[in-house]
Parts: sequence; C-alpha cells; structure tokens
Amino acid sequence: MAHISDEKIPNNVDLSSDRRLQRALEQWQPKFLEWWMQMGPEGYQAGDIYLRTAISVDPGGWAHFDYVKMPDYRWGIFLEPRQEGRTHHFGDFMGQPVWDEVPGEFRNLLRRLIVTQGDTEPASVEQQRRLGQTAPSLYDLRNLFQVNVEEGRHLWAMVYLLQSYFGRDGREEAEELLTRRSGDVDRPRILGAFNEPTSHWLSFFMFTMFTDRDGKYQLSALSESGFDPLARTCKFMLTEEAHHMFVGETGVGRVIERACQLMKQDPNGDARAQGGIDLQTIQKYLNLWYTLSLDLFGGDISSNAADAFASSIKGRHREGRYDDHVCLESTYPVEVVENGAFVTKDVPMRTAMNQILRQEYIKDCQRGVERWNKSIREHGIDIQLRLPSQRFHRAIGTFAGVHTDMDGNLLDDATWEARKQDWLPSAEDEVYIKSLMHGVHEPGKLANWIAPPLRGINGQPFEFEYVRLH
Ligand SMILES: [Fe+2]
Ligand SMILES: [Fe+2]
Repeated sequence: MAHISDEKIPNNVDLSSDRRLQRALEQWQPKFLEWWMQMGPEGYQAGDIYLRTAISVDPGGWAHFDYVKMPDYRWGIFLEPRQEGRTHHFGDFMGQPVWDEVPGEFRNLLRRLIVTQGDTEPASVEQQRRLGQTAPSLYDLRNLFQVNVEEGRHLWAMVYLLQSYFGRDGREEAEELLTRRSGDVDRPRILGAFNEPTSHWLSFFMFTMFTDRDGKYQLSALSESGFDPLARTCKFMLTEEAHHMFVGETGVGRVIERACQLMKQDPNGDARAQGGIDLQTIQKYLNLWYTLSLDLFGGDISSNAADAFASSIKGRHREGRYDDHVCLESTYPVEVVENGAFVTKDVPMRTAMNQILRQEYIKDCQRGVERWNKSIREHGIDIQLRLPSQRFHRAIGTFAGVHTDMDGNLLDDATWEARKQDWLPSAEDEVYIKSLMHGVHEPGKLANWIAPPLRGINGQPFEFEYVRLH
C-alpha cells in the first residue's frame, strides 16, 4: 500500500510521526476517493480547475492557487496552533485547563456533535454534484468546485478528530460518513436542509448564502470548545467558510442585479419576460433556504444545548463578548405557542443556547439582505427583499406545527394551503428556473439571468480560463 506522507496530505498535526493515525487514514483515504468519484461533482474530474489549496495555516500558506484536477486535490489536515495555557472560558469548568483528550463523561455528546457537523460536509457535495453542467460561467463553475473540495476537506477535518480521539467507534463513524447519502430514503444525511435537492444555481447561491452561514455559526460556537483539538480545527475551517458565503451572497446579488437590469429593459418591467429571474421569485427561494437553515440550529429550548454549554463543549458565537459565562442564574425570552397564540416565556439561559446562536445568525443574514436591497434601490426600483418572521415555515422548534404568513401571523390550514405558493417556490417556479439553466463554458461568457462578478478570483479577470475542460 502506498504510504501516506506529509506530501500527500498536507498537515500540521505531525502526521508522519503518528503511526496509528496514519494507518487509520490510509484505510479511510481510498474510501473517501471512491466516494468522491461516485458522489462528488459529476463530470469535470479530468478538468484542470484553478483552485485554492491550503498548504499551511500561515497567512501566506492557506491560499495557494494553481490548476488542479479535483481527484488530485490535496485534502489536508490543519489545526490552528495551540495556545499555551488555554483554559475553559465558559460553562461548569471555567478557569480549568482545556482538554487535549476526550473527557470520558462527555464522549458521546462530543462524538455526536462532531459526527453531525462532519455529516453536513459530504452532504452538500452530494447535493451540488450535478450543478457543473449548468454553470452560468467558468468563474462560477470554478467557485462551485472550490466549495466542493473544501467541504471535502472539512470532512477530513472531522474524520481526523474521530480517528485520532475516538478509537474504534470513531473509525466506524468515519466510515458511515461516507455511506449516508443526501436525500436517500433509507440512509439519509442527518439534518433536514442537507437532504433537500440543490437542483439549480439559484438554490446553490441561496444554500451558500444561508446554509453555509449556519455552518459558520456552528463552527464559531465549536471553536470556543474546551476540547482543544475541536476548537483549533473549527477555527481553521472558518477561514474557508468565508469564501463559501461570499459565493452565496455575491451570487444572489448578481441574480438580483441582473433582475433589475432586465426589469428596466422590459416595457412592463417584467424580468421573466426578458429571460431573467424576477425579484418575487428570488424572495421565495430566500424564504425557503433561510427557513430551512433556521431549523438547523435545533430546538429553541433544548436540554442538549444546555449540556453542551455546561460541559464546555460548545459555547456561543464570540463567547468572549458576553459578561456572564456561566449562565446559571440568568434567563432568556423564548416564544412558544400556547392555546393557539404566541406567548413569550423566560427560560433558563443555558437551555436557550440554540436560540441565542440563531439570533446572531439572523443579524448576519439581515446585513446581507440590506446590501442586496441597497443595490435594488440604486436602480430606482421600489421593491425590497426581506427575511420572513422566525415563525414562518418552521419544522423544528416551538413554531413547528403552526402555519403563519411571512409576518408571523397565524393562519389556519386552509388559508396556508391556499397562499403558501405566494411565499415559497411552486412546482412551476422550479420548472421555470430550471429552464434557464444551460451551461456556459466559454471563458468570459455568461448566462443571461445573472450579472458578471465585480472582480475575479485571486486578482484574475472574469475572462480568465478558470476551468480547462478536456
Ligand atoms: Fe464546510
Ligand atoms: Fe461551506
């Protein structure tokens, strides 16, 4: 068997001196590649893609650009450097030294969190595997593949933790991460949004805007962890995640920009009549992916979330900015549905950690929507996009099981059925969007429904040959 070397797997975990870990990764790597060839991007595996590869965590090393064939991408293992003397800074163990090994009493909790995070990474690659054929430009095609290989690396990051710190059941979990399949009825991926089809580029951009942003907040909360290898792994993943959200926010922004241009060209102000995607339809896809992503944060009142905080496994986004890091005395207001009405209840702060993280996420999403709206206003068009109420279209948490309009007003079932297609994509919307999706694979060319990016990747122009097809 070919020996896994530092050359093949760039890493800063001293892989070459850890025989046990090497053996585990040597057994796992061919299965990963088999999964990648079977479930990764369909076609294009022989193409040369202008990709960024992380070769170290130094500012100069994590963004190395070159043409790479995807199966040859060097999926590496990188942790932020250890901070000497780091201590738990929230929960029940405040002030004690952080853990370099898995604490026995929290082993299951920790493993479940790592597996759940790990599962989302290959899931999104699976969801996006057919998008290459319909990419609106080579620039977009390259960005898709960049996101895909980095989600592959994020899987490696979680598998590294499982194989290094969890022994036999960690190895089993690492295998199962390669056997579940997005959308499969028998062995689906763990979380809802990761089983939804991402069947066209509008959904892809919404996914990278909203669902990857959930990833940012989960990783941010885990980067506070008292299990130090997890904290250090997640910190480095966040640097890559930023690009995924950039792809999403600017992608949606370019669809909006084009919608505005086409509205002004059309005698009736109708972007669809000019072969574009109208703002109303963009709002519907925003509603869908935003609400699916809100669900990913979990229940509004959650004993699991309380346990993860108490045990110092999962903190809050930028925990350092809070004053109280123990949260035993304090409460947090959470809305619940009682007797058909919304009631606000104060619940113990620790049980509201999911909801607290979700509120940070919502603020971040809101900033993105405001940037989009600014560009619409600059066209002199009197339409604004918005985030729907947190009560709208929820499947998890206290609002699951009730129907509301976008403002959060309760609706009876009949009204919901009659009106939901005003707010969420209909089958006809799907058909229309898909009818626009034709691959544009010539350098500098672009599909009609999207505007060009403001700038290219790594200082290259938009016309650059980001993908060389063979
Ligand atoms: Fe990721
Ligand atoms: Fe991502």
